[in-house]
Amino acid sequence: MEDRVVSGESTSVDEQMELSLRPQTLDSYIGQHKVKENLRIFIEAAKMREESLDHVLLYGPPGLGKTTLAAVISTEMGVNIRMTSGPAIERPGDLAAILSSLEPGDVLFIDEIHRLPRAIEEVLYPAMEDFCLDIVVGKGPTARSVRLDLPPFTLVGATTRSGALSAPLRDRFGVLLRLDYYDEQSLSEIVTRSADLFEIEIDATAANEMARRSRGTPRIANRLLRRVRDYAQVIGDGDITLQLSQTALGLLQVDPLGLDHIDRKLIENMIERFRGGPVGLDTISASIGEESMTIEDVYEPYLMQIGFIQRTPRGRIVSALAYEHFGYAYPSET
Ligand SMILES: Nc1ncnc2c1ncn2[C@@H]1O[C@H](COP(=O)(O)OP(=O)(O)O)[C@@H](O)[C@H]1O
Ligand SMILES: [Mg+2]
Repeated sequence: MEDRVVSGESTSVDEQMELSLRPQTLDSYIGQHKVKENLRIFIEAAKMREESLDHVLLYGPPGLGKTTLAAVISTEMGVNIRMTSGPAIERPGDLAAILSSLEPGDVLFIDEIHRLPRAIEEVLYPAMEDFCLDIVVGKGPTARSVRLDLPPFTLVGATTRSGALSAPLRDRFGVLLRLDYYDEQSLSEIVTRSADLFEIEIDATAANEMARRSRGTPRIANRLLRRVRDYAQVIGDGDITLQLSQTALGLLQVDPLGLDHIDRKLIENMIERFRGGPVGLDTISASIGEESMTIEDVYEPYLMQIGFIQRTPRGRIVSALAYEHFGYAYPSET
């Protein structure tokens, strides 16, 4: 898969820059009001009872602030956070070592938790439920299982695919929070906040323009801001005006709705070769030479979010909105 300016997935450059842009507290975490209000209450209640917070599962598309929110939770609880990810934990012993090194109340963050191997998941069940580890000592007929106590801790899991999580694991989370795509107002605040941190001047209209093209995703908003900032430094005097940002975003080939050549390729293909559908996922996949899973997980979600593609039992359909946006005449009923 090629690099896209408008991808929600992070690159190593993003990761460096994002560290400095991450909000640390619930108050500075912009948008996601429902999620924040819920968390605020759970955190407050846990603190009043002097208990660890219930295990939290965060799910939603990449770049919406799951990792950030995990760190916010630990800050608000006043505890340490230990970060790891599903694919990074290879053996049950790895997880056992992490668990037994936690301090009371700590947050253990497991990113991409749906990629945790099943054998390792099983170590998690007693740890989540009873704060203990079952360890097998010895070999063969004399082997026996020993129970070790763990300090109470909070597991925060993050996943882009909550459906891929096994039911027993999902059921052990007390709090399930879904992050949604951000509205323009929130994204505009995020761009303005990041510009402040970068110490650059940005017009409100320019911030709005970037917000509109960020596909509801803070990571993309911050990335567009960085690219436009480079442009402003080289071409202008460093300040970001509406006109400058429009020119820069045009050069980056991000259109006014945040769509790029890949979105265009997908939609044009459906219109030109399949009369706008209904067309099956596998047929689209063969036709544009991309894996079905990539289309479904990466290309389609935002196009569905803005109503350009609809999923029906008979296949995908391109909407009138998309015909108009890409300059096609919508076929009439007759
Ligand atoms: N609610 C928010 N308010 C401000 N910035 C945010 C918010 N959510 C995410 N961000 C920004 O977007 C970047 C990506 O968020 P991240 O937590 O890494 O997303 P995810 O883990 O869901 O892929 C963060 O570094 C942060 O700068
Ligand atoms: Mg993350």
